[in-house]
Amino acid sequence: MKTTTALGVLAGLTATLAAAQLMAAAPAEIAQREYEEVLALTPNLENGRQAYLTCAVCHRPEGWGSPDGSYPQIAGQWRTVIIKQLADVRARNRDNPLMYPFSVPRILGGPQQIADVAAYLAQLPMTPHNGWGPGTDLEHGRALYQANCAECHGDNGWGNEPDHMPAVAGQHFLYLMRQFDSIRTGRRKNSDPEMVKQIEGFSPRDQAAVLDYTARLRPPPEKLARDGWLNPDFPNYVRPPMPEPPPIPAMPEPPPMPKFPEPPRPGEFPSF
Ligand code: HEC
Ligand code: HEC
Repeated sequence: MKTTTALGVLAGLTATLAAAQLMAAAPAEIAQREYEEVLALTPNLENGRQAYLTCAVCHRPEGWGSPDGSYPQIAGQWRTVIIKQLADVRARNRDNPLMYPFSVPRILGGPQQIADVAAYLAQLPMTPHNGWGPGTDLEHGRALYQANCAECHGDNGWGNEPDHMPAVAGQHFLYLMRQFDSIRTGRRKNSDPEMVKQIEGFSPRDQAAVLDYTARLRPPPEKLARDGWLNPDFPNYVRPPMPEPPPIPAMPEPPPMPKFPEPPRPGEFPSF
């Protein structure tokens, strides 16, 4: 009888400790645990389609987001990347105040729902008309991409599934610009520390050039939708008109060199 009580107390204590540990766990750890749990599940596409209905309000039924960059294209993204981003957002390891309320378990559901919606999105075809930049500095952009990004995101910007490396080809230019800013300034908490180092020295011109080049990289042909494709999974969806992207300003000219005063002529030297 005595032992049972002692064991009971011990068990209670262990449970409390475990709970305290869980509460103290950093958002990154909580997200990582959920990521691994989700990856082990077998996704159900039909359930994923239904779960996606909530997301379609912002990301559109096609998953193409908006060329003005307010919403990213998530169609065709790797399943692993989508899972990681969802787990990060709801563990608050990536700030996304707009989307956060839709990501919590009470609305989106548990790990199975994440597995389902991620698999659904990964198989949607991508837009053939994502937002691009001004197109005025692409050679510089290509050189920067090959030297600084290809190693991780791939020569074609296709990323890769096992390392949850985001595909960046075909993403909206203005969304890429915002993420790049957040990653560089540390506002995006889940960014890759190696990438942060890699882009440290980028000037505004470098950033615009490399991301314009990136946005124009084409996804694999079999992943692209044909012109005018509408997602047949949402036949009755009323699609509100898409905001037009703002005109992209050309890169500012460098400021003119300051004029140096004319050197004094020999005869004009002050005499001592
Ligand atoms: C209220 C609008 C809204 C809803 C609803 C919404 N999202 Fe988002 N989502 C956003 C915004 C805005 C971003 C980009 C945030 C940023 O700029 O960092 C985003 C980003 C994402 C990203 C990261 C993309 C990337 O390339 O990094 C994924 C994945 C995503 N959303 C999936 C979903 C899924 C799945 C759902 C439904 C369960 C959903 N979203 C519902 C607004 C929304
Ligand atoms: C050392 C590897 C590495 C290098 C080099 C690197 N990145 Fe990344 N990048 C990552 C990883 C990993 C992520 C995803 C982090 C996360 O959210 O889990 C990422 C995320 C991004 C994102 C956000 C994608 C999204 O869907 O939200 C953009 C944009 C991006 N990288 C662009 C670039 C560009 C452009 C370069 C080169 C100038 C570059 N990266 C160099 C590893 C790298």
